[in-house]
Amino acid sequence: MSDLGPVAWPPEPIATERLVLREPAARDRATFIDLLASPEVHTYLGGPREREELELEMPRAPERWPGSFVVELDGAMIGQILLRRATDDRRPAAAGKVDLGFLFLPEAWGNGYAAEACAAALDWFDGALPGEPVVLTTQSANVGSMRLAEKLGFTEVERFEAWGAEQWLGQRPAAAPAG
Ligand SMILES: CC(C)(COP(=O)(O)OP(=O)(O)OC[C@H]1O[C@@H](n2cnc3c(N)ncnc32)[C@H](O)[C@@H]1OP(=O)(O)O)[C@@H](O)C(=O)NCCC(=O)NCCS
Repeated sequence: MSDLGPVAWPPEPIATERLVLREPAARDRATFIDLLASPEVHTYLGGPREREELELEMPRAPERWPGSFVVELDGAMIGQILLRRATDDRRPAAAGKVDLGFLFLPEAWGNGYAAEACAAALDWFDGALPGEPVVLTTQSANVGSMRLAEKLGFTEVERFEAWGAEQWLGQRPAAAPAG
């Protein structure tokens, strides 16, 4: 995975009806560790990381890079959205395209927050890099992720076996140019 390309970063915090999307900050460190150490969050992502290891390794201020959004509810982080260019992707259909990823704390699931936040991130993306499609890969067994992909307008490109499970690769068409 590598750079998004020439985008202005960071954007002003993006407010949705209930949430705010912004750059990661030092105050998010504990929640990043909760996300990465959660077995529930990593059921379809190859398993969680060791909490002790994360406590030692995670920098004081979480890494910042264009396309990495923290999602905040009432002033506290509930999830992360990642838009990254998949240069090293093993699927030719995804190579070079921007890939959407999302991780939310289990206590935040089931409220439509992920859908609301991802729609805002994709709107930002359409403004920042107009005319670019976005891809998304998830295990097809990850029902929550599959439903979210559908709600966001991703349609199936292909299914393939990798990392010991069936994967679903979807694509969201490029937004029509403004005007
Ligand atoms: C994938 C993931 C982000 C989905 O989270 P989620 O909360 O289920 O997703 P949504 O924001 O779309 O919310 C969906 C549910 O909220 C419900 N909901 C409740 N109130 C709502 C509201 N006001 N507006 C919209 N939906 C609402 C919806 O009915 C919906 O349930 P349904 O899909 O059964 O109909 C979450 O499961 C997760 O973080 N998983 C672990 C990480 C992961 O696997 N990431 C994928 C990597 S590719």
